[in-house]
Amino acid sequence: MSSDPAFRAPIGVHDVLPPESGRWADVVTRFARRAGIFGFGLIQTPLFEHIEVFRRVGEHTDVVSKEMYEFRDKGDRHLALRPEGTASVVRAYVQHRPLPPWKVWYFAPNFRYERPQKGRYRQHWQLGVEVLGLDDPAIDIEVIALAAGFYRDLGLRDLRLIINSMGDPEGRGAYVEALRSHLLTSSNELGPEFVERVEANPLRVLDSRNPEWQSAIESAPLISNHLSPDASAHFEAVKAGLNALGIEFEVDGRLVRGFDYYTRTTFEFQSTALDAAQNAVGGGGRYDGLAEAMGGPPTPGIGFGIGVERLLLALDAEEVISTSKGNAPSVFVIDGLSGTDELLLLTVTSGLREAGISTERAYGGRSLKAQWKAADRCGARYGVMIGKAELERDSVVVKDLETGEQIEVRRDQLVAWIRESFEENYQ
Ligand code: HAM
Repeated sequence: MSSDPAFRAPIGVHDVLPPESGRWADVVTRFARRAGIFGFGLIQTPLFEHIEVFRRVGEHTDVVSKEMYEFRDKGDRHLALRPEGTASVVRAYVQHRPLPPWKVWYFAPNFRYERPQKGRYRQHWQLGVEVLGLDDPAIDIEVIALAAGFYRDLGLRDLRLIINSMGDPEGRGAYVEALRSHLLTSSNELGPEFVERVEANPLRVLDSRNPEWQSAIESAPLISNHLSPDASAHFEAVKAGLNALGIEFEVDGRLVRGFDYYTRTTFEFQSTALDAAQNAVGGGGRYDGLAEAMGGPPTPGIGFGIGVERLLLALDAEEVISTSKGNAPSVFVIDGLSGTDELLLLTVTSGLREAGISTERAYGGRSLKAQWKAADRCGARYGVMIGKAELERDSVVVKDLETGEQIEVRRDQLVAWIRESFEENYQ
């Protein structure tokens, strides 16, 4: 371990190394498969954008006002690292104008200058989807079902789905005023930052984690009691759809989530196996005005982001064995010829790999004992050894490293033999 702090990862960010990274690959592969089944294509957007893109998620949100990694490049452009995925995707939609409905999924890092703690980091990764161009409640249901099924397939059980409706911006004025006057009754005790927020956007008080503000928040009026008939009908349709699919949910009129862009349906998946402060393993909602706010045509949108680090913490907390056992090879090739026929080792190893069999080998003429030890340590299922006698007989020794059994196999039969022994994996 390096003792010079300059050569350690900065606070709040992490390396992901094998074998842990094998779990990541597994989770991402499953999500990609699922997103494909639901008709989503992969999108990749840049890690940084002009700062205006992210400001559209809300000037008074914590993410924009306190946590953004902003900088000027050498051309004096004001840029910021992506703090969340939706704004970049909507910017790409507005720029390229693909034919709606447009359905994309992503696996991307996000950067927020937060106070690091378990489950809260300065770089975190999200698996997410966004749909542009549909205001039908059917797509709200599908998007929520995509996420719910993903968690279910991974084996998570201690999960709660919370939903709410933020209504429409046009109908929100009366509610925002009621909320503002309620919150201002507590302003004397709660200080200038509280008052400033209430005056700028009282909704941004509701999603604050400041413990001193919680009692004012808990007694606040609920947005769900102020929905327009249209927004209300939309919300009812979403609830009916979730019920029809057997997806359990709770309605929480206080779920406003941390960005200004949300309209109508919002939702969050919380793991009851994690500490309450960091228990959201995913969340999302509608943002019907965001494309227009970025200069695009009026286009409704909906999506979600799932925090991968938190998802893995939840899997650990529930002790769910959901992922493959890292990247242990199937075969380890051992040199019993003391380095005298490197080309043979090369071709045997290559033949196995090109046949799709994960294969490791020993390098650099190590002792037989050291090689067998290395084969055991890397978790390979079979050791394949070529010694002098085998060389003469065009064969190899295959040792089952689980049972210790050994047999001799003809070299030209090796791939077929290994395949057969893993039959279930190679169908
Ligand atoms: P978000 O709720 O800010 O939403 O983040 C989504 C998920 O990312 C959270 O539920 C959590 O699992 C994870 N997450 C967020 N911040 C951190 C952090 N500092 N450390 C670890 N994990 C974290 C969004 O970002 C929206 N863009 C979601 C969305 C998509 N809404 C509509 N479309």
